Amino acid sequence: MNTVLKDKNIVIGITGGIAAYKAADIVSSLIKQGARVKVIMTRNAMEFISPLTFETLSGNPVYYDMFSRSGAWEIDHISLAKWADVIAVAPATANIIGKVSHGIADDLLTTTIMATKAQVMFAPAMNTNMYNNSIVRENISALKEKGYIFISPAEGRLACGDVGEGKLAAIDDIIQAIADYFSRKQDLKGKRVLVTAGPTREYIDPVRFISNPSTGKMGYAIAAACASRGADVHLVTGPVSLSPPDGVNIYSVETAQEMYEKVMELYPSCQVVFKSAAVGDYRPETYQTNKIKKDNDQLTLTLIKNPDILKELGKQKKDQILVGFAAETQNLLEYAIKKLKEKNLDFIVANDVTKTGAGFKEDTNEGLLITCEGETIAIPMLNKNEFAHRIIDEVLKRSPRLIDKNH
Ligand code: PMT
Repeated sequence: MNTVLKDKNIVIGITGGIAAYKAADIVSSLIKQGARVKVIMTRNAMEFISPLTFETLSGNPVYYDMFSRSGAWEIDHISLAKWADVIAVAPATANIIGKVSHGIADDLLTTTIMATKAQVMFAPAMNTNMYNNSIVRENISALKEKGYIFISPAEGRLACGDVGEGKLAAIDDIIQAIADYFSRKQDLKGKRVLVTAGPTREYIDPVRFISNPSTGKMGYAIAAACASRGADVHLVTGPVSLSPPDGVNIYSVETAQEMYEKVMELYPSCQVVFKSAAVGDYRPETYQTNKIKKDNDQLTLTLIKNPDILKELGKQKKDQILVGFAAETQNLLEYAIKKLKEKNLDFIVANDVTKTGAGFKEDTNEGLLITCEGETIAIPMLNKNEFAHRIIDEVLKRSPRLIDKNH
């Protein structure tokens, strides 16, 4: 029994696949755990299973008609969109995923998804080749990047006889994923969190600078995840081309020195720091106020060290939890542990940036979370939003002083 589901309003969207019959177990399990459930079926889903099953299990009418109105004053897709705390589409076909990722709203389920501010989750179920089709994969990636949660399908023998990935995830896993969403929901409420993201620019002259390939995706994902869990988030960001996450305080900086000053100002009032920015270690000793002319065959730059922001945070630490990041190309564990110790951190996330799908620019990340007690937790390849939540989950589990007793 998952008490976190009690009194939650959950819309289950059912689309037309053979796994539609399994949605009966999902609805039944949610009702047993005290959730309120309303079901939207697509026309194709009704070819596989009767709405009567879901009406009986949920105790509510099943919604499927765009133009029906439950009450004279209510329009279903708007009222369902507002009512829902979560919309979970299970099973989700390639069709619904494709439609939502391209903004197509042509039936009750898609219009409700477009109109909602609730978290939308998809549990895909389809033939292996369809699931592995690059178009479907691109649609899934695009939706994940926008914050939609996917509950990965299982591997096994599919209804069509093929064997592989594409089977609807186990019912317990789907229920757990919904419960996880609610239980993580406000666990940082009342906490002030400082996040840094993106690269810094170390200017040589007004039009040239030294920088690195950081896009800010990792840091922005952490800021968004902390905000979604109720934290008061302060994001100090280098120059990136991302939209600021909802409800986050943004401070834009360019150089390491500017980042240092803003971070130091915010630090004393924060309880947690995620330092995912890729800060330039060096800057040119002299800045040329006018554009340097290319009169000489050679140009020698002397670089001097920038302040190590995180090391300074480590020195001044009172009761803050400090989470550093390390982007490495070799000796991942050894170098990350060295940084953890030298900078007096509580945790460090070690990224092997030579791995495809990890580190700079990618939408996904994979890494090791290392604690100051010497524990190493492997975080698998996940989109950066989910990676961020996993890091926060693991940090919170090991930081009792951060847990909100009222949560
Ligand atoms: O932005 P993305 O494209 O999504 O890429 C994400 C990322 C790869 C940049 C991110 O996951 C990451 O690994 N960030 C750390 C990058 C790095 O190069 O770290 P570092 O090993 O140079 O520094 C270790 C730690 O000290 C970092 O937390 C860094 O923010 C901090 N540091 C470093 C130098 C400095 N002068 N001041 C600092 O605070």
